[in-house]
Amino acid sequence: MTGQWTRYYEHAGPEPRATLLLALDRFESEQPPQASRFAVDLGCGTGRDTAELLRRGWQVLAIDTQEEAIERLQASIGEQRLLSTKVAPIDDADWPQALLVNASFSLPFCGADRFAAVWEHIRGSLATGGRFCGQLFGDRDGWATGGASPAKGEITFHTRDEVETLVAPYDVERLDEIEEDGQTAVGDPKHWHVFHLVLRKP
Ligand SMILES: C[S@@+](CC[C@H](N)C(=O)[O-])C[C@H]1O[C@@H](n2cnc3c(N)ncnc32)[C@H](O)[C@@H]1O
Repeated sequence: MTGQWTRYYEHAGPEPRATLLLALDRFESEQPPQASRFAVDLGCGTGRDTAELLRRGWQVLAIDTQEEAIERLQASIGEQRLLSTKVAPIDDADWPQALLVNASFSLPFCGADRFAAVWEHIRGSLATGGRFCGQLFGDRDGWATGGASPAKGEITFHTRDEVETLVAPYDVERLDEIEEDGQTAVGDPKHWHVFHLVLRKP
């Protein structure tokens, strides 16, 4: 059976996201102890970011609601002692305290009624000096205005003011609002309105 995300997985590139690379650069300049380098990759998909974290020696818990994503990730990465995985929705998953919570293009797929709890869960799970990196969708995104999305369920969109409230408890290392016409990963035309975030918990 073809899952709702299968087309995305078939087209997802292997390149790690720029938000993750910036967060990792910041950590590299701080040199945290090896034992503390534990990351959670929420909505990991086929594992583009998980693979980069493992390559840099991080221990990773990769979580995705789609079993197919975890199977594809395991098939591409293979046996890895630093990797554990979980098939679960972000809004119902547990994870240990982490130095990094990464959520590349995944958090918006948590429904609006659960989003605040998820956002608080992420902040609560970060160690002091830990980072969140990932994306939120803006209120002028094409999927907010009625376009078909790959997720059959609800998507959460945020205004600029709402994003500024969400990031207020953090040191903001990247907050870029990008709005442009482009394409989805599978090549469909789309108006993107995305906030790219790298946040440090003080
Ligand atoms: C656009 S893909 C991004 C995948 C990957 N992070 C990347 O950057 O390529 C979104 C991923 O989030 C997952 N996802 C969507 N809603 C989720 C939820 N509520 N809990 C966990 N994962 C979810 C999907 O299964 C999909 O793999």
